[in-house]
Amino acid sequence: MTVTSEPSLPSMQTTVPGPLTNATKSKLDVIFDARTPQMVIDYDKSSGSYLVDIDAAQSPAMISTLVNRPAIGNFPSQQWFNLLRDGPMRAAPPGCTQVFTAQSGSEANELAFKAAFMAYRRKQRGVAPWSEHEQESAMRDQTPGSPDLAILSFENSFHGRGFASLSTTCSKPRCLHEIEHVIDSWHCPVAGIIVEPIQSEGGFGGTGKFWGHERWNLSAPADIVTFSKKAQTAGYFFSDNSLRPDRSYRQFIRKTEWMGDVARVIMCNAVIDEILSENLVEKTARVGEPLHERFATPATRYLDFI
Ligand SMILES: Cc1ncc(COP(=O)(O)O)c(C=O)c1O
Repeated sequence: MTVTSEPSLPSMQTTVPGPLTNATKSKLDVIFDARTPQMVIDYDKSSGSYLVDIDAAQSPAMISTLVNRPAIGNFPSQQWFNLLRDGPMRAAPPGCTQVFTAQSGSEANELAFKAAFMAYRRKQRGVAPWSEHEQESAMRDQTPGSPDLAILSFENSFHGRGFASLSTTCSKPRCLHEIEHVIDSWHCPVAGIIVEPIQSEGGFGGTGKFWGHERWNLSAPADIVTFSKKAQTAGYFFSDNSLRPDRSYRQFIRKTEWMGDVARVIMCNAVIDEILSENLVEKTARVGEPLHERFATPATRYLDFI
């Protein structure tokens, strides 16, 4: 097939990456790990097998980010920063300043497990480069390259059906004392704890707060908050830079090259618009609080059934 609008030759107008790509990457990097993109793309000007970066052309059309589904880690469009800022970041839980997008809840949870494991090991080993022994043992799935680490989860919780998220869906602890005991006695270090604040679809305004865990009045923000479904897109919020992998491609290439889906982020933006403009969080709180009070008495009386 001939693509008629394809240029006849490649054309270099700046060095690569060009100044606009670099400026866009710096802006994006504040809320989204932007170490991996080689260039930021204008999908309207791209044609056939030719990609046109924003240093060569600029156009604002949103539709192009829908039809040209980019692998966001390598070739984000120039709209990506605005889409994140006006979408998921408007709903970021208290204390969370960055986001990593994903395609499903299971994937978001598994990416969060990886981020926790990498941060845990980085704390132990510092910023030293991987030793030959670590690299070679990782290839054999043995320590120290592949260390045994665990995620602690709670009885009856549900975290998805992916291989790792499913494995956290049926563990046991029920009270703080038991949690301490599990952490101290587990056969390998516990690098993270996953908690489902409200069982069964509790997020995004459904508790009368934007995020269910805001009701716990935590003394420090949650390290990682994963989201999916009601947001129409998925991912995790965080703020501590140690939760960005030490090498940028460790989350991107090793787990998902899509790194989410721009089309779903646009839908997320619309959902947040609706929640905010219709005051849905406040409305849920107004209806939910008397309902919750009515349930509180039987809940204490019939504790054994809960
Ligand atoms: C609390 C919770 N975690 C994880 C998941 C898995 O999400 P997904 O089906 O998008 O992989 C779900 C799905 O319903 C869920 O309710």
